[in-house]
Amino acid sequence: MAKIQKVGVLGAGTMGNGIAQVFAQAGTPVSVVDTFPGALEKAKATIEKSVRKVAEKAGKSPDEEARAVLGRIAFGAETGAFEGCDLVVEAIVEDLPAKVAAFRAIDAVAPAGAILASNTSSISITRIAAATKRPASVVGMHFMNPVPVMKLVEIIRGQLTSDETAAAVVEASKAVGKIPVEASDFPGFVSNRVLMPMINEAIFCLHEGVAKAEAIDEVMKLGMNHPIGPLALADLIGNDVCLAILEVLQRDLGDDKYRPCPLLRRMVAAGLLGRKTGRGFFDYAKR
Ligand code: CAA
Repeated sequence: MAKIQKVGVLGAGTMGNGIAQVFAQAGTPVSVVDTFPGALEKAKATIEKSVRKVAEKAGKSPDEEARAVLGRIAFGAETGAFEGCDLVVEAIVEDLPAKVAAFRAIDAVAPAGAILASNTSSISITRIAAATKRPASVVGMHFMNPVPVMKLVEIIRGQLTSDETAAAVVEASKAVGKIPVEASDFPGFVSNRVLMPMINEAIFCLHEGVAKAEAIDEVMKLGMNHPIGPLALADLIGNDVCLAILEVLQRDLGDDKYRPCPLLRRMVAAGLLGRKTGRGFFDYAKR
C-alpha cells in the first residue's frame, strides 16, 4: 500500500483533535469534520495550544509551528471533505448506532482504496466494519489521551480486516512517531479491559468510603508509580466515556465483574464528566 497522503478525521472532540494534530505535525494534510456547532472553533484553539507546547519543548518557534500545522488542517462540517483521503479516522461518541451511521456516511464518500479506521475504545471493529461495503479495509486505531504525548496506538483487526490494511495503519502510526501494538477484536481490547476495572474499583472505594478521592489517587501515584491517580484519569478520559466502556465490557463479555459503580452512573447523570465540564471527581474550575 502506498504512503498515506491525506487523512480525514471525523469528530473534533478531545481525541479527534489530537489525532488531526499528530498527522498534521508529521506533515500530512488533514480534513477534520464535525457537525456540532462550535466544535471546530474549539478544536482550532485546542490544537494551537498543544502545538505551541510541543514546539517550545522541541526548541522550535511556537508561532511558526502553529501556523504550519494549522495550515495543513482543513476544518468543515461535511463528510464530502473525505473524498480525497487515503485514511479516515472516526473519533465520535462511543455508541454503536452512531458509529454505524458514521461509517455508512464515510464509506459513501471515501475513495474505493481508502482505509477506514475507528478510534473506538471498546466497540467491536467487526460490527462497525459490517456497516460498510469494504470490511477488509476497516480497522481499529485506538489512540491514547492526550494524543500528542502518549506513544501507544492499539491496532485492532476486525474479523475481515486484511493484512494489507493492518500493515498500512502500523506504518502510518510509526510515521507519526507512535508505537503500534496489535490486539484482537475483543470488547475493550487490551487497554480498556485492564484499565477500566481499575478505575471502576477506585470509584467503588470512594463510593464505599474506603478513602477520600485525594487519598485513593495518592495511593496509586506514590505506591504504584502511576503518573496520575485513577480518579484523575477518569476525569481526563471523561466519566461518560468510562461509563460507556464499562457497559460494553459488562454486556459483551457477559460478566458482572465489569458492572459500573452506581456513583459513576450518578456523576454522569449529574453532568460531572471530568475536565471537559470543569468538574468530576475533582474540581478543575478552582485549579
Ligand atoms: N499537548 C502537548 N503536550 C502536552 C499535553 C498536550 N495536550 N498535555 C501534556 N503535555 C506535556 C506538557 O507540556 C509537559 O511537558 P514537559 O514535561 O516537557 O513540561 C508534559 O506533557 C507533562 O505534562 P504536565 O506537566 O502538564 O502534567 P503531568 O506531568 O501530569 O503529565 C500526562 C500529563 C502526560 C497526561 C500524565 O499525567 C499522564 O501520563 N497521565 C496518564 C495518561 C493516560 O493514562 N492516558 C491514557 C488514558 S486511556 C485512553 O486514552 C484510552 C481510552 O480508550 C479511554
